Amino acid sequence: MRIAAYNLKKTYESGGAAFGHKVRSINDISLKIREGQIVSLVGENGSGKTTLGLILSLLLRPDSGQIFFDVPDWVINRYEIALLKKDLDSMRELGKDYSALNKSKLGLMDIRKKIGVLFQDVASSVDPRQTVYDIIKEPMVVSKYTDEQIHNRMNELKNDVGIDDDILHRYPHELSDGQKQKIGIARALATNPIFLFLDEPTSNLDPINQRIILDILKKINSKTRASMLITTHNIALANYIAGDIMVMFKGETEEKGPTKEVINNPQHPYTKELTSVAARKANYDILYYERPYNSDVKGCVYHRMCPVSFEICGWTIDEVYLDLKKSFGPLDLPNFKLKIEKGKILLYGVNKDQLVKMINLYKNKIRSFYAIKDIKQEDEHLSIELFDYKEVQMHKVGNAEVKCHLFEEDVSTLF
Ligand SMILES: Nc1ncnc2c1ncn2[C@@H]1O[C@H](COP(=O)(O)OP(=O)(O)O)[C@@H](O)[C@H]1O
Ligand SMILES: [Mg+2]
Repeated sequence: MRIAAYNLKKTYESGGAAFGHKVRSINDISLKIREGQIVSLVGENGSGKTTLGLILSLLLRPDSGQIFFDVPDWVINRYEIALLKKDLDSMRELGKDYSALNKSKLGLMDIRKKIGVLFQDVASSVDPRQTVYDIIKEPMVVSKYTDEQIHNRMNELKNDVGIDDDILHRYPHELSDGQKQKIGIARALATNPIFLFLDEPTSNLDPINQRIILDILKKINSKTRASMLITTHNIALANYIAGDIMVMFKGETEEKGPTKEVINNPQHPYTKELTSVAARKANYDILYYERPYNSDVKGCVYHRMCPVSFEICGWTIDEVYLDLKKSFGPLDLPNFKLKIEKGKILLYGVNKDQLVKMINLYKNKIRSFYAIKDIKQEDEHLSIELFDYKEVQMHKVGNAEVKCHLFEEDVSTLF
């Protein structure tokens, strides 16, 4: 197995007004990439794609989780059995011997040589005073290639990536976006990596150059069998190049599986949203939504936006409180008051009939109302109790895996 990563987590400390607040960047991500496999990571801005790619490229350390790089399959099998059995001793033991996160500095350098990275903004990730030739050469110099090796490899790269001799002595700012991207790819490939992380490789290119770059990557993949992880917010791109796809939302995997299956028959409500947006838009780009979200969201990270979320999806008392406030506010009831007390929402100035009517009227739009379990009349107020939410797990659906309560076997008993 080229890469096998388990339960990766990473939080950042945020700056600015919310200084010191933890921002969950990725949460409990597991992913395997085989030799020669191309996996695309799709999701809107801020979903954690770059963070995950950098962690798998061993450029960023996760807060927790495990990464195996290019280890025999029996190690992976044993680790997964240990994981299932929660056999912490075996997990630790295998981790000690094989984990990429437990390597010495030298060991880590050895692995990093086998990993090529194309950063999202190629131009700002290279020294603008270096010529194209020197930019591509640098990783080979670091890896102590001889002059002859550099010369030979440079010729191969020019050929594989399609770089003309006459741009080798130019500077990055003199190049077109397509050319810059080729230089970035050649540099990432310089030392013959077996794993490539390509962060939005075509996001600032026109369709013709997008196609050229993707075809170069495909050609390299079939020639070298290098595994690739490609982040994108473009579903058509994922469909064109990647056999497998992983859909992320707010740092979590919502659905993963064979690209064709996931795109043609999406299961997760978020994947359905993405693919229907894509189908309606000619260029198939995922929109960059501003979503109401904070890192403390409970349960399923998508529940607030989900058109089919229900009782147990993660609704908290604050969310229901806000939705009730928004719904009753415009009615201008003279004695209306709302507060949270001892884990319950108390409502003043409305009677139970009015509340039930309101809930039934809006339930299909304001999904948090599904979380209301019980309404009691107590003296001069109503008291609302909620269902408990459940943490959501991955479920196997066809050849894909989907993180959604809808696919639980006993889901029917919930209604
Ligand atoms: N260096 C950083 N410091 C603080 N927060 C970060 C940093 N990098 C990423 N984040 C946060 O982590 C989340 C995921 O970001 P990122 O991995 O860049 O997502 P994507 O590549 O899908 O747009 C976002 O909320 C982002 O603001
Ligand atoms: Mg990114």
